[in-house]
Amino acid sequence: MRAIISCLTALLLAAPLTAQQAADTVAPEVSTVAGAGAHGPAVAAALAAKSAGLPVEGRTWMIAAANPHAAEAGAAILAAGGSAADAMIAAQTVLGLVEPQSSGLGGGAFLVWFDAATGEMTTLDGRETAPLAATPRLFQDADGKPLGFFDAVVGGRSVGTPGTPALMAEAHRRWGKTPWPRLFDDATRLARDGFAVSPRLAALVAYDAERLAVHSATAAYFLPDGAPLAEGDILKNPAYAETLRVLARQGTRPFYSGRIAADIVRTVQEAPNAGVLSLADLSLYTVPERPPVCASFRGMDVCGMGPPSSGALSVGQILGMLDHLPVTGPEDPETWRMIGDAGRLAFADRGRYIADSDHVPVPTEGLVDPVYLAQRAGLLRGDKALDSVAPGQPEWDHARALVDDESLELPSTSHISIVDVDGNVLSMTTTIENAFGSRLMTNGFLLNNELTDFSFRSHRDGVPIANRVAPGKRPRSSMAPTIVLRGGRPVLAIGSPGGSRIIPYVAHSIIAWADWGLNIQEAVALPHAVNRFGTYDLEAGTPAEALQPALEAMGYTVKLRDLNSGLHAIEIGEVLRGGADPRREGIALGR
Ligand code: GLY
Repeated sequence: MRAIISCLTALLLAAPLTAQQAADTVAPEVSTVAGAGAHGPAVAAALAAKSAGLPVEGRTWMIAAANPHAAEAGAAILAAGGSAADAMIAAQTVLGLVEPQSSGLGGGAFLVWFDAATGEMTTLDGRETAPLAATPRLFQDADGKPLGFFDAVVGGRSVGTPGTPALMAEAHRRWGKTPWPRLFDDATRLARDGFAVSPRLAALVAYDAERLAVHSATAAYFLPDGAPLAEGDILKNPAYAETLRVLARQGTRPFYSGRIAADIVRTVQEAPNAGVLSLADLSLYTVPERPPVCASFRGMDVCGMGPPSSGALSVGQILGMLDHLPVTGPEDPETWRMIGDAGRLAFADRGRYIADSDHVPVPTEGLVDPVYLAQRAGLLRGDKALDSVAPGQPEWDHARALVDDESLELPSTSHISIVDVDGNVLSMTTTIENAFGSRLMTNGFLLNNELTDFSFRSHRDGVPIANRVAPGKRPRSSMAPTIVLRGGRPVLAIGSPGGSRIIPYVAHSIIAWADWGLNIQEAVALPHAVNRFGTYDLEAGTPAEALQPALEAMGYTVKLRDLNSGLHAIEIGEVLRGGADPRREGIALGR
């Protein structure tokens, strides 16, 4: 297996932008690793470990994040005794600068926290909300036909109330140890003095140049003098530095009810494809605490964020079904038949039932009930691909007619895993949805397009879709920030970007780590074989391609494609071991 992983890593690092990537309607998925550049020696060592397929080790604290600058900012806080929540804020504010296409102040996030002192798990919902003036026809034309995806995304219509700043403040209120203003220092310095544009950011800007040109502030930043930013350009963002200075001094009030709020609303309402976000939406925004959702797998509890995310429910369903089956190893096509069809069954339930449970009833407990999952696992005992899959009938007090969802989620997003000196564990997935979100920029940050995670259709044949748009509702997500417990103690923190592929990325990495004996770096680098809706997607240019003939003989339609996860994980034991996905630019740092 180690040979397969090393070979995979070499392939990934060398992969150029392919014709398929350019043809996809999604942003290109490049595979690059940032050079150590201006970073300290710990970054060079972390990049070397990642290239060698080895985890980074530490004994007291660790962070794994999508960019070396962000990991360094979090590490500096942890090394000084700060909490995982403090380190998250330092890392998130840097990610919003150096990886602006994926997450930032204009987006939303879900946070899972394990408290070492109490043994309790908390999940916080920083998801964007639909404006109070939104209607179920937000993404339909005058005849009620769904808009094209990018016609909906680009402009003000797709922008939901950002949740990330409020989530940062709530996490700091609950678990912060470091003074709030200090947490903005590194991001402010980098924004003021400049940072080198990474290969991935440069490639994404070049690919998206046409859409980035639509809004003048966005164009001025990403396409200075009309040309896309290039790799290695030193980019400064004085507007972002000023926003951070305001947040550091005044907290999040200016963002939700002051000058920044007014700028957000004006930007959304005056943009092409104008939206209906208002000052009331911003001032009413809250970060609810929700019950964690856990599923049982190999005697462990795999826990994460419940509705409005489908992440923990769908990851839990896949693992809960496989808990009843003999999953052998990654070279065995039979393994991938079971994993793939477990994914299809989970996605069938997801499309029917999962949405914001504050607005529609969701059979949350029924979906991960072990008896229900054992019954669903019974469907996987054949030796061919299931002819068809349909949603099941989980135990539910609110049984009601619903039809399947039609929302499209394309790859984007970022994930941070952290363990602090006190043993607290944080797993947070953070997003502005599509790469560069709505393409609207204000005060140095991009605004999300999270509302396109709703179903564009509200009903079919008069029957409602659970994930339809409604005022104040949070769009369904696939984000799956996860903490795995054994005997009530944390053993793994993990999560990934990747749109709805987040679910299989996270589930498969947990299987690889728990069942196949891979170290955490090998597990996050494992070649992907992903089945959500029936097509079996194999990661192009990797040993996963070898599964194609056997899977086709079982009845699957197979596609080779670029599957760009961004898994960041920490295995927690006597030693902390961090893994960073070789498909992206991140690293793990620890001591
Ligand atoms: N927008 C990505 C997700 O929430 O799953």
